[in-house]
Amino acid sequence: MTNINFTYLPGDGIGTEVGEAAIKVLNTTAIKFGHTLDIEEHLIGGAAIDAGLRPLPEESLASAKKTGAILLGAVGGPKWDHLKGSDRPELGALLPLRKELNLYANIRPAAPHPALIDKAPLKREYLEGVDFVVMRELTGGIYFGKKGRDNLGAYDECRYSEEEVRRIAIKAFDLARLRRKKVTSVDKSNVLETSRLWRAVVEDVAKDYKDIALDHLLVDAMTMHMLTHGKDFDVILTENMFGDILTDEASVLCGSMGVIPSASLSDGTMGMYEPIHGSAPDIAGQGKANPLAMILSAAWMLRLSFKMEIEAAVIESAVDAALYGEHTTGDIGGSLSTSEVGDWIAAYVGDHVS
Ligand code: IPM
Ligand code: MG
Repeated sequence: MTNINFTYLPGDGIGTEVGEAAIKVLNTTAIKFGHTLDIEEHLIGGAAIDAGLRPLPEESLASAKKTGAILLGAVGGPKWDHLKGSDRPELGALLPLRKELNLYANIRPAAPHPALIDKAPLKREYLEGVDFVVMRELTGGIYFGKKGRDNLGAYDECRYSEEEVRRIAIKAFDLARLRRKKVTSVDKSNVLETSRLWRAVVEDVAKDYKDIALDHLLVDAMTMHMLTHGKDFDVILTENMFGDILTDEASVLCGSMGVIPSASLSDGTMGMYEPIHGSAPDIAGQGKANPLAMILSAAWMLRLSFKMEIEAAVIESAVDAALYGEHTTGDIGGSLSTSEVGDWIAAYVGDHVS
């Protein structure tokens, strides 16, 4: 028996709805496997601002640091769009959380589920066989460089140290070793100095991974290759902003943003898990949000932070069954509400584990 102690940050918009569904599934899973759940729920983003706090309240950060495992819904929305800089939910909560916890390795998968292939906007031939992950550097580059305004205009500095590139490259090569043994590093080395350093360090790390095939692509070319021959890729390694852009593009290959989980990892078992979708204010509060990405993120948390491979796999097979049986929300062809999907998956986990 293990005590699953984690920090739960539902956040804003549909974050709270998909979060409830995921907690329900975690509850059933814990009961079935004889674990206890010890959930530390805290405010973040707009919800924290509305409660008169900073976007990332001290106690939310302290809990995250203590438990080392965070399940996050989503932050932000039009209600807080008028705020500036670090008063905003994204800049004031998400970025400092990533930085403070040193969550430098962000993993986002792209593997269209067979039940969703016909729901994606691309032809079947571009989707079948696609199965890659993007390893995005998350705590460096232009996101965290010096920014400001002066009499000439505005600037955002992009900086990478050799060490920052090396540690994310190692994560990518290690992951490729567990998969199809291929790393594609994406940069803009024909223009940017940070990209030239990136490429040199990645080449150097590759010397310790002779069993892994490495190639390099420029980011502009990658935006095309990802859609036209996505099946060529295994692990795509890239810097912070290119990764931000490419992972949104990759989600188009998966039929719906509502089914893709993500992990932001540090060294050891420290990790934050969240769906790749945002707070979707347009459908918030209506029970329409697809909770599968959040439920899968919870499964990843069990696997990566608590080393519960079987528990994670059981949740994933329940999600699989929901997709094949169309026990899903309207965005992917089902007719259930957010909480009904959560109930269905929790019941499936309850029924299928002895
Ligand atoms: C993401 C988001 C964030 C990012 C925003 C909300 C700051 O787009 O996680 O991809 O740019 O990293
Ligand atoms: Mg993004």
